[in-house]
Amino acid sequence: TTVTTVLGIQYPADSWTNATPHIVAKTERALHRTPHHPVAIVAQRIAHFWSTQVPDVHPPMRVVNDMPPVATPAANFDSLLIAPDHPGRSPSDTYYLNQHSLLRTHTSAHQAQLLARGVPNFLCIADCYRRDEIDASHYPVFHQMEGFRSFEASDLKVLTGGASSAFDKVWDPSVNPKQTVHDVAISAAVGHDLVTKLEAMCRFLFESSQPLEMRWNKDYFPFTAPSWELEVKYQGQWLEVLGSGVVQQPIMDAAHPTRPAGSVVGWAFGLGLERLAMVLFGIPDIRLFWSTDPRFLDQFKDVDPTDPASLVTFKPFSAYPPCTKDVAFWVPKGTVLVDNNLFDVVRGVAGDLVENVQQIDRFVHPKTGRESRCFRIVYRSMDRNVTNDEINAVQDRVRAALVNELQVELR
Ligand code: PHE
Repeated sequence: TTVTTVLGIQYPADSWTNATPHIVAKTERALHRTPHHPVAIVAQRIAHFWSTQVPDVHPPMRVVNDMPPVATPAANFDSLLIAPDHPGRSPSDTYYLNQHSLLRTHTSAHQAQLLARGVPNFLCIADCYRRDEIDASHYPVFHQMEGFRSFEASDLKVLTGGASSAFDKVWDPSVNPKQTVHDVAISAAVGHDLVTKLEAMCRFLFESSQPLEMRWNKDYFPFTAPSWELEVKYQGQWLEVLGSGVVQQPIMDAAHPTRPAGSVVGWAFGLGLERLAMVLFGIPDIRLFWSTDPRFLDQFKDVDPTDPASLVTFKPFSAYPPCTKDVAFWVPKGTVLVDNNLFDVVRGVAGDLVENVQQIDRFVHPKTGRESRCFRIVYRSMDRNVTNDEINAVQDRVRAALVNELQVELR
């Protein structure tokens, strides 16, 4: 193909193009705008928290769920101060339509655009795309929510010592430094607001009769400083919920060209909606979100995002048996096989029949110097029984595609 069409717009291919038809087809689905879809329900429940439990956000958080998925590298990376050599820009991690257009890798891509539109406080919900491994919790398309809040720095200055002793335990500036342009009081006031609001949000989402255990770990993002991730203890396990931080001042200043530098400051967070929905509803496999089987969607039809009593636990409608196949091959001499290329070839042929792909063997032949790799592919349908004959046919097509597209020599 020399042209890729995404939502009616054509993108001519070039040497960067790596978005497969299987991936591009997902841009039509809009799970986050599908009524009663668990991804949409979780987003609505979080929006409900912000509109009812946080009266001091003015103007109130605007919910934006219709930003198109194609972004420029400028929006997805440059506007966020992501360095030109950052690995996330590489075509081995990101789906490119061509050199100038990609499928957004995170909702942070819209921070600068929404600020420029004059929206200071927002929740931006969108489908995001990343080349990744294949297992029950990884899928190349997922949904994020970006939360963003702006403040007048002059309003924060009056909150002298805006921080508290609890916040002192969250923020250690010696390992998670503030921005040099920020007064420590400004950084602490913004960070304190971020931490208290997001803790309240998680309590609203997760807390039952027991108090919810949470912990903040320092993190790093090019577009925030200081930065933190938040984990909650859920059914005995620490679960990473979100990344967050005080927005880099150059991003705020660029969005407010008529205001003196430093006069508007902000915080941002980004969370993965499938992750939360899997936990809140007990959904065991990320492929289920893409199922059009009414046995999946109908289970959520009476959930009211404003009413915790209406939340349901998903009842798996199948435990269809898996079918496992191995494929071994020689990598063409002098080349490196990028795992994500193999994963996209397998997904391109097998679609959502593939549940897991894992390397089980790799060695270099001592005499020829050729590299051998062997992968184990687990096939399983989410909604029906598959026959061994059917999977053998799929596996034959996977093998042929690996030869065709990656030039491997089957063993
Ligand atoms: N965009 C980041 C990610 O996808 C998450 C994030 C959002 C971090 C906003 C900080 C602030 O990992």
